[in-house]
Amino acid sequence: MTNIYQQRRKTLLAQLPKDSIAIIVGYQQKVRSKNIKYHFRQDNDFYYLTGFNEPEAIAVLEQSSGRYHLFCRPKDPAQEVSFGARAGVEGAISIHGADKAYPLVEFEEVLLTLIANCPNLYISDELGRFSSQLLCWTNQQRLTCSFDTPKCFTSVHPLAEILHPMRVIKQDEEIALIRSAVNASIAGHVAVMSNCQPNTNERQLASLFNYTVAQYGCDDVAYPNIVAGGNNAICLHYEENCCDLNDGEMLLIDAGGEYQHYAADITRTYPVNGQFNQQQKTIYNIVLAALDAAIAKVKPGTPWNHLYETCMRVMAEGLLEVGLLDGNIEEIMQNESYKRFTVHKTGHWLGMDVHDVGPYHDVQGKWRTLEPGMVFTIEPGIYIPADAEDVPKAFRGMGIRIEDDILVTDDGHENLSAQVPRTVNEIEALMSSS
Ligand code: GLY
Ligand code: MN
Ligand code: MN
Repeated sequence: MTNIYQQRRKTLLAQLPKDSIAIIVGYQQKVRSKNIKYHFRQDNDFYYLTGFNEPEAIAVLEQSSGRYHLFCRPKDPAQEVSFGARAGVEGAISIHGADKAYPLVEFEEVLLTLIANCPNLYISDELGRFSSQLLCWTNQQRLTCSFDTPKCFTSVHPLAEILHPMRVIKQDEEIALIRSAVNASIAGHVAVMSNCQPNTNERQLASLFNYTVAQYGCDDVAYPNIVAGGNNAICLHYEENCCDLNDGEMLLIDAGGEYQHYAADITRTYPVNGQFNQQQKTIYNIVLAALDAAIAKVKPGTPWNHLYETCMRVMAEGLLEVGLLDGNIEEIMQNESYKRFTVHKTGHWLGMDVHDVGPYHDVQGKWRTLEPGMVFTIEPGIYIPADAEDVPKAFRGMGIRIEDDILVTDDGHENLSAQVPRTVNEIEALMSSS
């Protein structure tokens, strides 16, 4: 029976030129301090094509035969008692479906024989584990190629050119895993919103999120939680999460669980005390209107940049109406003065990586149009720092971002994260009842 990894390898190889070899280098364990390692997480390209979750492994795929070679750590009873079971060379074949498997020490010797007649080498080596050897391999091939055989000089290409466009369109199995990550994260956000009140602190709420997504089967969070009270939310990737939360301030929480290698990425912003004041409500509703206007545009055929442009126009109109921008709306759209408050782009692909891989442009360089199976975030924000002295005081010290996870369907879209309260009424109702 072919499994999903086998199918993906086949789809990949069908797109490579004749007789190519693809090398996919897995991650090694990272040191935290001295002999203590970080929890291991496999490289996403490697996992996408193999499902093999041990450190140090390397996969080699032959285009002509379709053969899958896996280089992995050999069995080692003492190491396995200390650090857990290994598949070993036999398990790489019997459990993980490799056609041939070898201990890691044989990698370069075997690779050189595999690439001896290979005109194109494709490599995925995110951390550059073999970047210094690459030239030696191709040079070796040149030296060992006998004078009367057709010369075959390997050219080297990033595998990402072929693999990452595949990863942009999610298969049904991937969408199911993203849904699991998102559903766990919905529960995490609801738990945090329900428990947020003055005199809690950012770290307690960050931990509550982690605990809740673990209850829903997540292995980890997909990125460090951003739990930012008041002016801390001005920093887009605030990760200290170390401050007390104060009455009268807003809390911005950007957090997503990771479920079997797939990410969620959701942001909500609400008053620490559960009741929006007038200025908070005004800015919040501008951001929410921008998000909803962009979500309404999501369907097959919409160019990617329309989502950003929609968000910017709605937020510029709102900021103009409130008096935080000057001029008329067409001038503002032209001179982009709104960027002072809107700061960042409004979305990215979502999948195995939270900022998932794959192009946003087509081969002519035009913005890509949406297709069924794409999953991405939309995440407009307005940020007014505490020291913005030309802005009325009541608006200062506020960073409001709202982020949802959107799936493109055959005839439109689905907002996967819509169940986290997002309107002023929904938020106030939940916070006042808890
Ligand atoms: N959490 C990172 C981002 O929203 O892009
Ligand atoms: Mn995001
Ligand atoms: Mn986010």
